[in-house]
Amino acid sequence: MNQHASCNAHTQEFHRIFGGAPSFIAAAPGRVNLIGEHTDYNDGYVFPVAIDKYVYTVASPRQDSRVTLHAIDAEEGYEFSLATLGGEGQVSVKRELPVPVSAPAWGKYLVGIATLLQNSGRTLRGMDALITGDVPIGAGLSSSAALTVSASLAFLTASGLEMDRKELATLCQRVEHEFVGVNCGIMDQTICLFGRADHGLFLDCRSLEHTHVPLNLGEHVIVICNTKVKRELATSEYNKRRTECEKGVNILKRWLPDISSLRDVDLTDFENYEEALPFLTQKRCRYVLEENARVQQAIAALQDADLPAFGRFMNASHSGLRDDYEVSCPELDVLTDIARSIPGVLGARMTGAGFGGCTVTLAHRDAVETLRKRVMTEYPQQVGIEPEIYLCTVGDGARVRKVS
Ligand code: GLA
Repeated sequence: MNQHASCNAHTQEFHRIFGGAPSFIAAAPGRVNLIGEHTDYNDGYVFPVAIDKYVYTVASPRQDSRVTLHAIDAEEGYEFSLATLGGEGQVSVKRELPVPVSAPAWGKYLVGIATLLQNSGRTLRGMDALITGDVPIGAGLSSSAALTVSASLAFLTASGLEMDRKELATLCQRVEHEFVGVNCGIMDQTICLFGRADHGLFLDCRSLEHTHVPLNLGEHVIVICNTKVKRELATSEYNKRRTECEKGVNILKRWLPDISSLRDVDLTDFENYEEALPFLTQKRCRYVLEENARVQQAIAALQDADLPAFGRFMNASHSGLRDDYEVSCPELDVLTDIARSIPGVLGARMTGAGFGGCTVTLAHRDAVETLRKRVMTEYPQQVGIEPEIYLCTVGDGARVRKVS
C-alpha cells in the first residue's frame, strides 16, 4: 500500500472507531542494526538503520484529560485519564511510577510515556488515538521503541508541545526501564527518532553524538530474515548480560580507576587484567570490546566502498554474539549459516537483543532470489517453523503528518 492509500485507510479506520476525523498521524519506524550489538548500554558504538515499517498513532486531541486508545493488531481498546496517572491501585516495576493493573502490554508504553512527559513538567491534553502499523511485534526490529516514540510524538502534538529529540529518546528509553523492566540501551529510540533514508546512523551511545553515513551499497541490498521464534529469554538474559558487563567494569576498576564503562577499556589493558575476571564475565567483556572496535572498522570499510570487508565484520559480530556473548539461538544460527553459504552474500548476523527475532544479511541483488528460496525451504526443514523475509528499504526517522 502506498503512503497516501495507507493514510486514507487509517483515516477511515479512525472514523469507524471514534466517529470523527483524526488531526494527525505520528509514524515511527522499526530498525535493523547492521553492527554494534549489546554495545549501547556499555556506552559504545552502534550502526543501525531505520526501516520502512512503521508504528502509526492516528490521533485527535480531546478537550478533557482522557486518553482513549484502540490498538488494531491487538483488537483491543484501553482508556486512562492523564489526571489520575500515578493514582492508587496501580503497580509498576518501580513503585513510584505506577501503571494501572488493567493496562494491556501495549498500553503500558503509552501510560509510561504520558507519565514521564507529565512528570517532566509538561501539561498534556487528552486524545483519541488509533494504534496500528506493520513493524513485526517481538521480532527484534524494535516494535516497542517505535510504539513509544510514535505515542510520545502524538502526545506532544495533541498538546501543542515540542521537545528536543535527544531528550525525547532518553525519556522513551526510561519507559522501558521503569514501566516494562527491560534495562535497554539508547540505540532503538535514537535511530527511530534520527534515522535518515539511505543512511546508517553511527551513534556514540555515551555522548549521543551521531553521524549519518551514506549506505553506498551499489548492487547490494539488506535482507531481514525473521526466525519467528518468540524471544522468551530476552528480558531476563538481556538484563543479566548488562549486569555481567557492569561487574566486569567494577573488577577492572581496581587497576583502571578512571574507567566508568567498557567503552573506556582498551584491549591491551583488558588482556593484562582479564584473568582477574570470572570466566563468563571475561567472555562477555571481551565480546563488547571487540564489537566496539568492529563498528568503527566496519564503518571505515563502508566509507572505502569495501563491502566484502563490511560483510566480514558482520560475520565476526555474529560469531562473537553466538560464542562469547551467548545471545544467539539455534534458529538464528541456521539462518546465518544458510545465508553465508550462498555466493553473493557478503555477511549475515543476528540483529537486536537475540534469543530469536531476526537476522540481517548483506547480499548482492542477484543472490536474493536464491537466498529467499533456500531460507523458505531449508529453514522449515531444519527447525519446523515458517520464516518471514523482508527486503529492507532504509527510511527516515519518526515524523508527524497533519491530516487535512
Ligand atoms: C535491544 C535493546 C537495545 C540494544 C539491543 C542489543 O534492542 O533495546 O538497547 O541493547 O537490544 O544491541
